[in-house]
Amino acid sequence: MKTLLVTAPMPEGYFSRAIRALDPAIDLIEHRADLSDDELAQVNAVLAWQLPPGLAARLPRLKWVCAVSAGVDKLLVPGLGPQVMVSRIVDAEQAQGIAQFVVLMALRHARGLPGYEAQQQRHEWKRQPVAVVRSRVAVLGMGAMGGVVAQLLRQVGFEVHGWSRRSDEPLRAALSASDIVVCCLPLTQETHGLLDARAFALMPRGGYLINIARGAHVVEPDLIAAVRSGHLGGAALDVQRNEPMAADDPLWDVPGITITPHIAAQSSPQTIATQFIAGLRSVERGEAPPNTIDRARGY
Ligand code: OXD
Repeated sequence: MKTLLVTAPMPEGYFSRAIRALDPAIDLIEHRADLSDDELAQVNAVLAWQLPPGLAARLPRLKWVCAVSAGVDKLLVPGLGPQVMVSRIVDAEQAQGIAQFVVLMALRHARGLPGYEAQQQRHEWKRQPVAVVRSRVAVLGMGAMGGVVAQLLRQVGFEVHGWSRRSDEPLRAALSASDIVVCCLPLTQETHGLLDARAFALMPRGGYLINIARGAHVVEPDLIAAVRSGHLGGAALDVQRNEPMAADDPLWDVPGITITPHIAAQSSPQTIATQFIAGLRSVERGEAPPNTIDRARGY
């Protein structure tokens, strides 16, 4: 089996070093724009975050695409043969890291920290009424990530409600009963743009959004309008539609919106290498790798 590593946006060698440290015999090639059709025709597996346009159609012997991430949306591209299996990384450490980030942002908002940061800027020592946090949080998407997020939020005192697309409960009920909404959904055709002006209008005044999933879940101009109008209290966006964000992206300058550059948590190259090698062994035996997704469903 020959594996093509499409490392970007990580530097070349980031995954190959970790894989070779575990098994130097694995046959790897790093992706370059000038790989010939003959070289690409040898490839049976791809390890990647995203597939450059046109690449999938040039891989006639491809059997398996292994995402280096929890989400696979950037890999389900046109041109990927229907027989190709797609798997993802399921990493308990990463889920814990994401949950820590969500708790950090939820507490920062619920305990009013931005207000005290602004007071400090003004050298103003002024106490506001203090209460233990009991805000209602809806966690949208209760998969491997959402479940851990919900658990940690509960542990620090939030009243948590999990919502998933497969539950009978309409999304509007979850949104209207929540002070904070956390998006942990996979990005699929059904969830693309789900958090739009209608969704924000359903949230109570002062509501807060935390997105650790994908930027495209959110209609960003609608979010900006909802925050600027004062209907929403703000948002923490670890993911954005356009990553990396351009310097003139309007999201940067909205008071109440906190931007972080997709750093809520990352799987280590060692974890990715270990899961990739386990998957490779399965594919060599003619089996589906662990954490294979349902391509029709998109996750
Ligand atoms: C992701 C990841 O899917 O970083 O965003 O794993």
